[in-house]
Parts: sequence; C-alpha cells; structure tokens
Amino acid sequence: MNYNRCGDSGILLPEISLGFWHNFGHADDFEEARRIMRRAFDRGITHFDLANNYGPPPGSAEENVGRILAKDFACHRDELFITTKAGHEMWSGPYGEWGSRKHLLASLDQSLRRLRLPYVDVFYSHRPDPHTRLEETMSALASAVNSGKALYVGLSKYPLKKLKKAVKILKDMGIRCLVYQPPYSILNRWPEKEGILDFLLEEKIGCVVFSPLAQGMLTPKYLDGIPEGSRAARKDGFLQEEQVIAQQEKIHALADLAAAQDMPINHMAIRFALRHKAVTSAIIGARSVAQLDDSLDALEAPELTDSIMKAIDKIAPTVKTKKAEG
Ligand SMILES: NC(=O)c1ccc[n+]([C@@H]2O[C@H](COP(=O)([O-])OP(=O)(O)OC[C@H]3O[C@@H](n4cnc5c(N)ncnc54)[C@H](OP(=O)(O)O)[C@@H]3O)[C@@H](O)[C@H]2O)c1
Repeated sequence: MNYNRCGDSGILLPEISLGFWHNFGHADDFEEARRIMRRAFDRGITHFDLANNYGPPPGSAEENVGRILAKDFACHRDELFITTKAGHEMWSGPYGEWGSRKHLLASLDQSLRRLRLPYVDVFYSHRPDPHTRLEETMSALASAVNSGKALYVGLSKYPLKKLKKAVKILKDMGIRCLVYQPPYSILNRWPEKEGILDFLLEEKIGCVVFSPLAQGMLTPKYLDGIPEGSRAARKDGFLQEEQVIAQQEKIHALADLAAAQDMPINHMAIRFALRHKAVTSAIIGARSVAQLDDSLDALEAPELTDSIMKAIDKIAPTVKTKKAEG
C-alpha cells in the first residue's frame, strides 16, 4: 500500500480506503463484515470511513464497527484513521438532519457512543445545508475539534462557491479543513468539471473521493443485466436499475477499452480515480473479502496512459452533472 499526504497536513492516507455505507449494517452478515475489516487492515488500509446514518438501519454500521474495533482492533487505535459524518437524515424530528450546531454536535456524541471511541479522526459536514448559515455549521465543526471529540474536520459534497466560503470561515476560526469528500469516477466527473479538484490543489486540502466504482457499475457485474444480490437488485433506492440501464452503452465501451489493455474495467476505474494529483485516496465499498481483494489488486495495474485517458474522455467526457450523488 502506498500512503499519500492529505494536502499539506501531517496525515498520510492509504491510496485505497474502506467505506461502510453498505454491507456493515445489522441487515448484513456480521462475520463477513468483520473479515472484510480485518483483511483491509492486513492489506494496509488504515482509513475507515463512516457516517451516522450508515446501515441499514441508520447507525448500525457504526454499532457493528464499534463491536469489531473492540473485539479485534483494541490495540490498533493509533494505527487507524476513523472518520464519521453528520448532515443527512438520521433521526426523526426537527434536529435529526442538516447543518445546525444542534444536529452536528448531538450526532457526533451519538456516533462516538456507537463506535465506542473517545474521538474520531475526522468529523465531516456530510452535505451543505441550504437553510443554515455556514458560520453556524462551521462553528459546530470547530467545536468538535476544540472539545477533543474530533482531531480534524472535513466537508463533503459542498459546491465550489460554498466550499470556498466554508474553508475561509474555518480558517478565520483557526481551524483548517483537512479533507474534502466528493463522488468521483469515470461516470461522475463532477468535481473535475466544477473546478473543485483544482481548488483543493491550490489550497493544499486533501481529497478523498467516494464511489470510484460508481457503486459497482464500473465492474464486470452489470455487463449482462442485473445479477441477484447486487446493489441495483436490492431496490433500496441507492442504485436504481434505470441508472444502470442508462449507463449500459458506456459501461460496455469502457469494459472493451480495459480489456484491450489487459485489465478488468474495475481496475481501470480505480486507477482513473487515483490519477488526478488532487486525489489523496479513493474510498471503495466491498460486500465480500473477494471484492475487497479485487479492488486492492488494482494498485498493481499500470497507471493509465495519455492515450487511454483520451479514449476514456471520448466515452465518458467531463460533462456537468446536476448535483453530487450519495
Ligand atoms: N460523502 C458521501 O456523501 C458519500 C456518499 C457515498 C459513499 N461514500 C463513501 O464511499 C464509500 C464507498 O462507496 P461505494 O460503496 O458506493 O463504492 P464503490 O467502490 O463505487 O462501490 C462498491 C460496490 O461495488 C460492488 N463491487 C465492489 N467490488 C466489486 C468487484 N470486484 N466485483 C463486482 N462488484 C464489486 C459492490 O456492490 P454489490 O453489492 O453490488 O456487490 C460494492 O459494494 C462508502 O462506503 C462511504 O464510506 C460517501
């Protein structure tokens, strides 16, 4: 595993990180989740990415990770970089989502209880809140650091203008935004198009991208339809069948391009996500140890040449998308 510096901070992150959005809830197989986490660490993944609402049900991924951390990682806490987030819908009533101090700080306390940890490494604002003053949201992130409950702060899915403002407000409070988290894959080049990756490079802020496999669309699994058990087949609303069908032509063209380079489409997708200078790490998801191993093997694939990049640009150009997904 290679470790990249997160912006100009003291933190090094593995090129590939593991996310717990799916496959780690109470609805999933606990022992497989445990095997995935242990295998990830054994292969050099030190960065585990969570959020308050990951499950299902919401909160259960943090509960399971808390159990696994206590069982298997008790003496490894200082070798791990554990992040969580708040902002998406988590509990009912007026304080269960968005960017108020009330929601963020209550949610962080809940996350720490579920994870059985005294602090997390990064506490993220999970999404921008159109109705709350940025100063309020940023002050909550600053409080998380000042109270010792988070070592650093991060922002996710903020559009460029809001991101610039938020970074400045944090700076004025004496807090540096360590890391930004956008979706980024061959099928979603939103942060490139919006100039976000360039801004992060200029500001020397780290960038941890999510869903480099486009939730599995950039693997061989959907080439012949929707297989049983896959995310698109689960019909939980995260990856819709129609989304997969709409991308079919591109997926086939990308798979052919990858095959011509003697690599599977998922390896090409991971190499793509990691090739931009701004990107510190790509957070993958895995439903099994075999999937995790497969994604990690992409690190042995050759870097994408200019001619492959040109071919990718032709198949999936940097088109402007309406909003960030996830
Ligand atoms: N900040 C945010 O708002 C936000 C939003 C979304 C995600 N994230 C973070 O990013 C992490 C990763 O997101 P993601 O799960 O969408 O990432 P992803 O790596 O794009 O997709 C992972 C999914 O692809 C499929 N897959 C993986 N390897 C495969 C292989 N070798 N062969 C066939 N299928 C394979 C599996 O789905 P199947 O179940 O179909 O097998 C797996 O669960 C999340 O856990 C979370 O930590 C953050």
